[in-house]
Amino acid sequence: MDNNTAYTLHFVATTDFAGIKALYQNVARQSGDIARTEEEITEEYIRHNLDAAIARGIGFVAKADERIIGEIHAYPPIPKLFAHILSDLTIAVHSDYQGVGVGRALFNALLDEVKLHRHPIQRVELLVRQSNLKAITFYQSLGFEIEGRFQQRVRRPDGDLEADIPMAWLRSVASDSVKGKIF
Ligand SMILES: CC(C)(COP(=O)(O)OP(=O)(O)OC[C@H]1O[C@@H](n2cnc3c(N)ncnc32)[C@H](O)[C@@H]1OP(=O)(O)O)[C@@H](O)C(=O)NCCC(=O)NCCS
Repeated sequence: MDNNTAYTLHFVATTDFAGIKALYQNVARQSGDIARTEEEITEEYIRHNLDAAIARGIGFVAKADERIIGEIHAYPPIPKLFAHILSDLTIAVHSDYQGVGVGRALFNALLDEVKLHRHPIQRVELLVRQSNLKAITFYQSLGFEIEGRFQQRVRRPDGDLEADIPMAWLRSVASDSVKGKIF
């Protein structure tokens, strides 16, 4: 695929269930960079994320020829003291469509929705493996900052342990950079 690949973005809907499950199974099969193996992409896992994104969070899908080729979601933890946070962020782009801008478009859709229509949301957070340098650089380019390092949090397929990196986008930082403030 190239940068002219045609796709459209939509808010997630309950009818996207089967397409999202197939997408996550594809990405889990092709890449060790998402937390679950293909067998761990269960109906309960997909249903939980879809329901939470629709009920209290944000989710978008990218579609090409009616097929779901990318998905992003995030939602606040249930306790009210976390209601200003979008957490559990996960993004996946089908292996045939990676590297042509779908992931960036999905992230921009989510962050635009936060900036324009979800004013209570102050913080969007995610975890990324230390070895996923491309993804870390990508998230930094979107305004996410590294907040620390969870040592030995992830067991890799080869048995070694690696760090998970917590990253966050903050509305206060994003709006200050729009105003041109320098820290
Ligand atoms: C990471 C991922 C979501 C990025 O989506 P994408 O559509 O491939 O990315 P885009 O084409 O929009 O490119 C955005 C940036 O991501 C980086 N990127 C491109 N291909 C990538 C790949 N295969 N893996 C990771 N990052 C990639 C590039 O640096 C690019 O930056 P640029 O726009 O300045 O060139 C997607 O590749 C994916 O699903 N990978 C496998 C699962 C994964 O790593 N999930 C994230 C776990 S935290």
